[in-house]
Amino acid sequence: MENQQFLEDKVVLITGAGSGFGREMAKAFAQKGANLVLNDINLEGLEETRDVILKSVKSDILLVKADISEVDEVKEMSKETFNRFNDVFILVNNAGVRGVGKRASSFSLSAKEAEYERIMDVNLKGAWNMTKIFHKKMRNNPYRPIAGKIINITSCAGTECGANPLIGIYSVSKAGLIMFTKLWALELGASHITVNAICPGIFFTPIYESREFIKEWMKLRNVKLPIDRIGETTDVANVALFLASSAADYITGQNIVLDGGMTCSINKL
Ligand SMILES: NC(=O)c1ccc[n+]([C@@H]2O[C@H](COP(=O)([O-])OP(=O)(O)OC[C@H]3O[C@@H](n4cnc5c(N)ncnc54)[C@H](O)[C@@H]3O)[C@@H](O)[C@H]2O)c1
Repeated sequence: MENQQFLEDKVVLITGAGSGFGREMAKAFAQKGANLVLNDINLEGLEETRDVILKSVKSDILLVKADISEVDEVKEMSKETFNRFNDVFILVNNAGVRGVGKRASSFSLSAKEAEYERIMDVNLKGAWNMTKIFHKKMRNNPYRPIAGKIINITSCAGTECGANPLIGIYSVSKAGLIMFTKLWALELGASHITVNAICPGIFFTPIYESREFIKEWMKLRNVKLPIDRIGETTDVANVALFLASSAADYITGQNIVLDGGMTCSINKL
């Protein structure tokens, strides 16, 4: 594939980088030489991510505390980013919420209005805010053949065979993000920007309370994984690195499912 430092002098912006996938992707990108803009609403989490990275590699890291669902905060993030760096090569729309409260699970028709608004505002409008504001500068990037890359973190809950009534509004928000991935690929292709999504199945991150909670939850939904293990954050980071690399330059508009086979069949062995 690429040389070891294929992201040297490139800037990667990751939302929701204060924990989980966001932190793991930040580590992986920094190991390939990237400088980073790390965003989250949780500043302590961001500082921890930065400190973990700087223990093992050199990277110029800007931390931006901002709520991506608030357009004014995203505009401010853009100002801070371009005061520090000339451009952003990769935007990762990763920040997301499952529900209101860690254990939150509800049928779409029982969800409270505030829950509906929060989930849609962060998972869907947040990614739209980020892309709407940052693509303007990305399309002028000097890099070729690809000027920039956008990676959305969707979910199997948003796919046709993954609709999950226990997290109904979340499922809808992620289905919307999968469609945005395709629309943005169409809208930005002529600007040499690729847009793809990583679509995780079940992974242990702080979005869940504990591994036991995930196991209970899988039992409740009768989920069986052909590859019989819960996913690890490094699985997602590895696919993000692939999408960031030139090996993926001809891929756009795709929702790459990473679920140990969970959604490939209704015939469970
Ligand atoms: N863990 C899984 O099994 C799984 C499966 C499919 C998809 N996902 C998706 O992966 C992404 C990352 O989640 P994770 O599992 O790493 O969970 P996580 O809770 O560890 O990470 C999400 C991060 O987003 C941040 N965040 C929340 N609202 C924000 C906002 N308004 N602005 C900025 N940051 C905000 C949180 O503070 C948190 O640090 C999410 O979009 C999630 O929906 C996770």
